[in-house]
Amino acid sequence: MGAMDNNTSDIKGRSVICLKDFSRDEISLILDTAVRLKKEWKEKHSHGAPLAGKSMAMIFQKPSLRTRVSFELAMQQLGGYAFYLSPNEIKLGQRETTEDIAKVLGRYVDVLMARTFSHSDVEELARYAGIPVVNGLTGFNHPCQILADLMTIREKKGRLEGIRVTYLGDGSNNVATSLAFGCAGTGAHLTISSSERRRLGRGVQEDVAAIANKTGSQITYETDPSLAVQGADVVYTDVWTSMGQEAERAERIKELSAYTLGLELFSKAKPDAIAMHCLPAHYGEEITHDVTAHERSAVFDQAENRLHAQKAVLYLILRD
Ligand code: CP
Ligand code: NVA
Repeated sequence: MGAMDNNTSDIKGRSVICLKDFSRDEISLILDTAVRLKKEWKEKHSHGAPLAGKSMAMIFQKPSLRTRVSFELAMQQLGGYAFYLSPNEIKLGQRETTEDIAKVLGRYVDVLMARTFSHSDVEELARYAGIPVVNGLTGFNHPCQILADLMTIREKKGRLEGIRVTYLGDGSNNVATSLAFGCAGTGAHLTISSSERRRLGRGVQEDVAAIANKTGSQITYETDPSLAVQGADVVYTDVWTSMGQEAERAERIKELSAYTLGLELFSKAKPDAIAMHCLPAHYGEEITHDVTAHERSAVFDQAENRLHAQKAVLYLILRD
């Protein structure tokens, strides 16, 4: 890596648990670093091993394709080492306490990445590990996904400030929550379009509004999806039934059926709008295949950028 930007922010040694904890400058630092690492990797296929000798344990309570592969590769391409701990391997909080697992792993490795059901498990790991903890998705939020998404929006639209993002579907889930913190934190505008019942919790709405107040971001809520996509630069959706909510699937499909992102709804956004989805997709529910395959789909760019954005996070928190 070359010299850092003029940005004087530093996130060395920090955990990444919620984007609420990161200032606009800190998010910019991560995104700028991600862009530089992406370019460097594409040009040279090498970063010169800045994280040589560093290691990462990855705790997964839920399945994953993107998060597992991109975190493991990110560490490897930076010269470090990462290993996967499957849901049955350490049985977080069952075989032994989360506190003890954190204390033990903290003696072995330099960073923990965790994907858990309960957000408080990731917070507990961070409280006791004595090393940085990176949230790879909890029931509450998914910050690394949104860092990759902000990077993608910046690549496609040239900026974040003033960009109009519309999120359709389950407006209360982990991706919607992190998207709200990410847009609020960077000055992008966000409209969340969902049924009244699937909105961000009141406390999160207040936190997001307070951050948006400082950056000039506008965060609004709209039940009508056709109105919500008007003037949108970005139309984003995610599954209606998140991991762990499978028993509610039928009810959720019934409740959210008006929010499917199909070509007709997509055509009501700006003519150059991009479509986004964090994947995996439940085709025919929240999105149709012709939208992810559309020439203005950024879905697979988002997936790719998970690698680059997480590399930036790992590099910035672990570098000497
Ligand atoms: N978007 C995302 O986090 O994908 P995985 O569940 O496959 O990691
Ligand atoms: N909301 C989804 C995101 C998957 C990456 C879930 O939690 O299952």
